[in-house]
Parts: sequence; structure tokens; C-alpha cells
Amino acid sequence: MDTQLIKTINKLQDAFTTVGVHNPVDLPQIVVIGSQSSGKSSVLENIVGRDFLPRGTGIVTRRPLVLQLINRPASKKPEEEKSSKSEDSPKSEDSDKSDKNENPDEWGEFLHKPGVKFYDFNKIREEIQHETDAKTGRNAGISPVPINLRIFSPNVLTLTLVDLPGMTKVPVGDQPKDIEKQIRDMVGKYIIKPNAIILSVTAANTDLANSDGLKFAREVDPEGSRTIGVLTKIDLMDQGTDVVDILAGRVIPLRLGYVPVVNRGQRDIDVKKSISSALEFERNFFENHPSYRTKAQYCGTPFLARKLNMILMHHIRNTLPEIKAKIQAALVKYQNELSQIGDPMDDHPGQQANMVLSIVTEFCNELRSVIEGQSPDLST
Ligand code: GDP
Ligand code: NA
Ligand code: MG
Repeated sequence: MDTQLIKTINKLQDAFTTVGVHNPVDLPQIVVIGSQSSGKSSVLENIVGRDFLPRGTGIVTRRPLVLQLINRPASKKPEEEKSSKSEDSPKSEDSDKSDKNENPDEWGEFLHKPGVKFYDFNKIREEIQHETDAKTGRNAGISPVPINLRIFSPNVLTLTLVDLPGMTKVPVGDQPKDIEKQIRDMVGKYIIKPNAIILSVTAANTDLANSDGLKFAREVDPEGSRTIGVLTKIDLMDQGTDVVDILAGRVIPLRLGYVPVVNRGQRDIDVKKSISSALEFERNFFENHPSYRTKAQYCGTPFLARKLNMILMHHIRNTLPEIKAKIQAALVKYQNELSQIGDPMDDHPGQQANMVLSIVTEFCNELRSVIEGQSPDLST
């Protein structure tokens, strides 16, 4: 996987921010949509590989969560040989070693709590719950005001994910009469962006034709060029039924296809089953299931993570010309400012310009190697 390109873009973004140019590169966000309790938060959590999202039956996610993952190398400790772990593996072995849900190389920071580092991921979940209640009350209220969380970790890809309240029709508790419209507006704001990648989650034990997520995705992405279907709760399907027809595109075809997954059930959550045992269970499930064992490599969370990675690569490649133009425009503006300031050796600005220039050069090399390199295969 080309995590390098994504890292470089991130570096570029940071560099531009330092010199006051914001968002030169409009990176895609991965947005999770679907009906209430279809398993959206569970899917996100498995992709991240850490336990930290409130999950459960009923409306648990009641504000958008904008989750920025930032890849950051581990501080080296010789006894921690991590031999066979692949870079894009969504799981973290360390996460399961203690009840405290901590790892010295991974932490979260909330925008509303600047400077506070959360090493205990259970505390992150509590903070999300607390912040949700603070803006929406406890009785199932919702709010479009996002919670912004950054997670720094050596085990993630640098990208942004958005967890959203599920689509629902009937108001409960303190929910407004027009709950359906309010949630649609909230979800719509994120998926309408042409650079959003939509993870449309549908529980496999419900009817795909009635999937709220798929219907909405189709409205904003009629070509299906940025919608991935995720089928959850495969383990809860009636005996003798499966999603093979859906995967083969014979029900509602999607250009980017569907990925079936098995997340932790409510009981697993109650007994605090670890992500690693859940992923192990998922792998065994697909490898031993008569309907899926011949295609087990295209099933499950690790495959979903790889697929996302490839789609990101494609997307970035397609937006390269635009990125280049933005860089050039910013540089011209920058050089003009510099010449007005006068002596470039004087102080800061000269150094910053050099830094941006060297990062841009590095970026262009990166870009060239990607274009000349292999084209990611999305046809699986
Ligand atoms: P959300 O409301 O769409 O974010 O869904 P959650 O992730 O909160 O999950 C809702 C409920 O469904 C929880 O009790 C999960 O444990 C359960 N769940 C989610 N995915 C699966 C799955 O693949 N299999 C099983 N058995 N339960 C699941
Ligand atoms: Na839920
Ligand atoms: Mg949720």
C-alpha cells in the first residue's frame, strides 16, 4: 500500500498551514452512512483498530464525529519487535494486552480540549459520550455540531473518517418531529462533497432494497463512483441464506462493490471482547463458511481497509493536476510576498519558503513515482 503518498500529502498540508495557506489539498473524507444500528460505528472502529467509539442498540451516535487519523511512527523500543505486521493492518496487537486500553504510542486529542492527550481509549469513548450529552441532552437528542477528534498512532493510515447518526424515521425521546429530515440534512452535508468516499452500511439481515444508506448514496453519487457497500451482521443471517448474489452485483450493483464484514455483537461488547479476537473470529467465519470460503480474501475488515486505501490512491491520482495547480499558485503568491518583504535572509519567511519548496519538490518526486508506478486494481 502506498501509505507514503498519503503521508507526503499530509506533510504538504502541514507545511502550507504553517505558512498560512489552508487546505491546498482537499483530501477525501470517508463517511459512514446507513440506518440506525446497522453497525456504522462498529465498522469504523474496526478500521481504526482501537476500541473507542460508543456503540450499541438504539441511537448511540447523536452528533457527527470527525475523526482524523494521523500516522506517526512509534518511538523505538528494542524489545518491541513487530515482525509480521503489515502496514495497512487495521488491528493493533497492543490494544488487547491490558484492560486499560492504552498504548504509549497512540493517543487522541479533542478539538474542544486543546492540549489534553488521551492515552486511555476508554476515556476517549467517555469523552465522546460526555460531549454528546453536553450538546444534545441524554434523551436521544441529536445535534449537527461535530465532535472533532484526532488520533495519533503508528498503526493507522493518515486520513479522515466521519461517523454519523443513523437514519431514522420515527422520533423518540427528545428528538424533533422532523428527525428524518434533520438527520438527512446532517448526513447530506458530508456525502454531497464530491471528494467524500461513502461507506454505505447495510445490515445483511435486512432488505438491501430498503437500505436508507444505499438510497441516499445513490442520490448524491448516481454513478456509484465513490460509494462502497458494506454488509454487516453476516453472522446473523438465517441459515442457508447468504449475500453471494449481492457481492456478485446481481441485486443492486455498485461499481466499487460490496464488502461483507462481521463485527462484534452486543454480547461481545458487553463482555468487552477485544478487536483482535473479533478480527480472528471474522477471518475464521469467512474462511469456513460454505458460501464464502472460496472468496474469503475479498471478505472482512482487512479487505475493506485495503480497498479503501486503493480508492484513496485513485482519488489522489485523479486530483493531482488540481493539486499541482494549487501548489504553483501558492508559490507564486509566496514569492511575491517574499520579494516585498525584501531581504530573504532576514528572518523566518525565507526559511519557511525553503521548507515549502523542499516539500513541494519531494511531493513532485513522489507524484512522479506514483504515476509511473503500478495502477491500483479496483476490480476485485
Ligand atoms: P450504528 O448505530 O450503525 O453505529 O451501529 P453500532 O456499531 O452501534 O452497532 C449496533 C449494534 O449492532 C451493536 O449492538 C453491535 O454490537 C451490533 N452489531 C454491529 N455489527 C454487527 C455484526 O456484524 N454482527 C453482530 N452480531 N452484531 C453487530
Ligand atoms: Na446504534
Ligand atoms: Mg453509531
